[in-house]
Amino acid sequence: YAEHIPKKCPGVGPSLRKSLSRLEYRGYDSAGVAIDGDKEGEVFTYKEVGKVAKLKKLIDESKPDLDASFTSHAGIAHTRWATHGKPSRLNCHPHRSDPKFQFTVVHNGIITNYKELKAFLESKGDVFETETDTECIAKLAKYIYERDTSIDFTTLAKSVIKELEGAFGLLLKSVHYSHEVIAARKGSPLVIGVKTSRKMKVDFVDVEYSDSTTGPLSAEQASQTVALKKLKGNTLAPPDKSLLHRSQSRAFLSDDGLPVPAEFFLSSDPSAIVEHTKKVLYLEDDDIAHIHEGQLNIHRAGKGDGLSAVRSIQTLELELQEIMKGKFEHFMQKEIFEQPESVINTMRGRLDAENKRVTLGGLRQYLSTIRRCRRIIFIACGTSYHSCMAVRGIFEELTEIPIAVELASDFLDRQAPVFRDDTCVFVSQSGETADSLMALRYCLERGALTVGIVNVVGSSISLLTHCGVHINAGPEIGVASTKAYTSQFIALVMFALSLSEDRASKAKRREDIMNGLDKISGQIKKILDQDQAIKKMCQDMLHEQKSLLLLGRGNQFATALEGALKIKEISYLHCEAVMSGELKHGVLALVDENLPIIMILTRDEIFKKSLNAYQQVVARAGKPIVICNEGDEEFAKEKCVKIELPQTVDCLQGLLNVIPLQLIAYWLAILGNLNVDFPRNLAKSVTVE
Ligand code: G6P
Repeated sequence: YAEHIPKKCPGVGPSLRKSLSRLEYRGYDSAGVAIDGDKEGEVFTYKEVGKVAKLKKLIDESKPDLDASFTSHAGIAHTRWATHGKPSRLNCHPHRSDPKFQFTVVHNGIITNYKELKAFLESKGDVFETETDTECIAKLAKYIYERDTSIDFTTLAKSVIKELEGAFGLLLKSVHYSHEVIAARKGSPLVIGVKTSRKMKVDFVDVEYSDSTTGPLSAEQASQTVALKKLKGNTLAPPDKSLLHRSQSRAFLSDDGLPVPAEFFLSSDPSAIVEHTKKVLYLEDDDIAHIHEGQLNIHRAGKGDGLSAVRSIQTLELELQEIMKGKFEHFMQKEIFEQPESVINTMRGRLDAENKRVTLGGLRQYLSTIRRCRRIIFIACGTSYHSCMAVRGIFEELTEIPIAVELASDFLDRQAPVFRDDTCVFVSQSGETADSLMALRYCLERGALTVGIVNVVGSSISLLTHCGVHINAGPEIGVASTKAYTSQFIALVMFALSLSEDRASKAKRREDIMNGLDKISGQIKKILDQDQAIKKMCQDMLHEQKSLLLLGRGNQFATALEGALKIKEISYLHCEAVMSGELKHGVLALVDENLPIIMILTRDEIFKKSLNAYQQVVARAGKPIVICNEGDEEFAKEKCVKIELPQTVDCLQGLLNVIPLQLIAYWLAILGNLNVDFPRNLAKSVTVE
């Protein structure tokens, strides 16, 4: 996050700290800030382990007048989720090149060649002070600067970026370029909010492309251009022509053609920006944005073949209240209770239950190609993977296309075969999960058709896929995904309905599903009314247990997986999802009168088979918690504890069955006095491999 204001005005400190709090849900083990002072070469940096509130306290204690004492115009800040190096003040961002803060950087992602860069810089005399991969970015910038102190900031940034392998979204500042900020991205999101005092004349920013076709470099250009491409033997490769840029790109112009000074808010996530401005532009991979004197210029690090020459300004749909807790104690609780609405938002304008039609605008052009594909591969991680598992059966049934469901990391580990006539569907709440993104690139390289099912508009997966569906669940802040799951589930069912729209043999089934979807919101609402009863059940039966089994089969195995993940991630109770049919093949050995077990036993085609597992448990004196349909008399009170839910079409039942499991996870975390929204060691958006 950075802000640039070209005239005297209040410092950026308060907005930086507030925006950091808005970003905490993405990663939270430490936080830091670096702000330009008024004097030449002055930089204020504060870092602290823990939550942003602790950083605020540190600043208040060490420099209570930080915000009043000068009118800083540029600052950067970061909340960290540790990858390289344990959470500590030292390892926390921003990172500096040296004690004089010649270059300061914040960075999301991982620099995979940092060891080589570090070895190179150490051989030149640099001493590293942290265990992070990020520090090498700041030190590399200093190294390049020292070789030619007349280099401009953009050219310098291009030279730095050229050496970095891996993924990054980064912001770079320097005392040599006071009040300027560089932003660059490759594989990690960056959005720029723009706030102008005068009405904006243009609603886009020209992108300036590198020009490798210009003639030989002049001596002056060559000296300005330092490329370290291959660091073999610690020698420098010759300057690279592609680092040259053609001309000054255009910024915002007023009616009279003069540049309009603006404030810029740079973030990995629009949530940090929305309270300042709703006008944003999304950077693309290899973009380098330079903010200077209230102007924004965007340059390309690569040639940009096939990319558009402008980055258009878009209006954020996000409302501030959507990222605030409102009347709820926690974001997770708010998001669980939002589901009656969020599922409607997913279907709005798309499902017409009356006329039996589903329209997914983002897929329309591609449906006939997908219908002809050899197979559909769903690729995702975590909860998103479970939503794919949940719809596999109905996809197979409606489309009669072979379906594979893959964990992105495993798919890549295996270098699984992908062909041009495959359709690869990437499901992701954030649209930024590194494993999923890398799998997407892998499939693109192999010529497959790619589809994105994402929540975050403008995210990398939504930009890189050929087509897709936004699930429109609204911002999800709680690390444990809840409303995104139900919305992904519904978006995927609608996808299957669209693919099967011309199949007469499926007409009745499709109609039942559409009618089921039409009623789903009201049914979720009804289940949420059991919140307090579920809380009590958690108190009486599950709190302080050491381990828990969660059994389901058929469509409900995905529900069991998702429920078990929710319980593990926020209550830290070990919980294992078991496919009921497999119980007798091993897990049954664990069952006795003490082991808590939750069994999903709503009525469907395989209900009788599911009952076998129930009988196996009861016969061993187990007293399971049974999730069943309202009024189901199969389950005697003395043998089990019932959570009764409304019935819907079998393939949608998981949308209802998951709700009590979300509530169980929530209440177990509360009873354990745990931090529901920020579970230890986890981050909302995992942008590292
Ligand atoms: C992280 C989150 C999970 C999420 C998973 C996939 O692990 O903590 O809640 O399900 O990433 O994220 P995505 O944004 O791709 O759905």
